[in-house]
Amino acid sequence: MNIFIVYAHPEPQSFNAAMKDTAAEVLTKAGQKVRVSDLVAMEFKAVSDANDFPRRADPERLVFSVEQRAAFESGLTSPDIAEEHEKIIWADHIIFQFPMWYYGLPAILKGWFDRVLSEGFAHAPPRWFDDGPMAGKRAMLSLTTNGKPSGYAADGRHGAMEVLVWPIHNALRFCGFDVLPPFVAYDVVRGDGERRRAILSAYADRLRGLAGDKPLVFHGLDDYDRDGRLKAGVEPRTAAQRMRLDKDGR
Ligand SMILES: Cc1cc2nc3c(=O)[nH]c(=O)nc-3n(C[C@H](O)[C@H](O)[C@H](O)COP(=O)(O)O)c2cc1C
Repeated sequence: MNIFIVYAHPEPQSFNAAMKDTAAEVLTKAGQKVRVSDLVAMEFKAVSDANDFPRRADPERLVFSVEQRAAFESGLTSPDIAEEHEKIIWADHIIFQFPMWYYGLPAILKGWFDRVLSEGFAHAPPRWFDDGPMAGKRAMLSLTTNGKPSGYAADGRHGAMEVLVWPIHNALRFCGFDVLPPFVAYDVVRGDGERRRAILSAYADRLRGLAGDKPLVFHGLDDYDRDGRLKAGVEPRTAAQRMRLDKDGR
């Protein structure tokens, strides 16, 4: 398997760095090929702006979907994005390694999603979700938190982890990836070396069994009506879609 690790942390001595290094070591020893994009070290540009499109399809008004697709189709994708595209094409499996920052992705990794998973390359409606261009590739989030697992339970103060990561998972599914359950290293700020070693060891075990992991369930396109809502009689099977508003919409 070809495995691409997209890593977002500025500190080589961080727990995230240790997880990235553990993954590279364990997977390489298991005979897999590994490549890493160290986004901070690469000074990866996080902001999607007009500089990404020096030759504009529409010079009057910047519409990202139009410019991304035109750049991709004419081979004019910005070189830093094209390099990431090449790694994705090479990969069977992508691991995203990052600390949870304000309940989501660090800005540099969000920027990678915005710029690299671009229209034309990663999704090209009506080629999306089950029919997305990334179909057949697998993706997994590997993240760290300061909060304890109890705070990320369904009734926890942070909200359920499966709901918090759902937008990231669904963005990957939108592109066609099969998404594996995340590996969450909770409460990594406190704790001694022994606890950290135990987490890294559990992560190494998880990685050794990666090929056998079953993807998370997402509804197929056939489950939705023309408005993009689940058809009558289709029970919601994902965390976010199981959430119900009351009759006042609250
Ligand atoms: C800007 C910022 C936002 C953060 N937001 C969260 C958060 O939403 N939830 C949480 O549990 N921890 C949060 N943290 C704590 C980090 O997740 C924690 O420091 C990190 O996972 C530790 O891993 P590291 O040692 O590799 O940095 C935040 C930290 C920073 C700097």
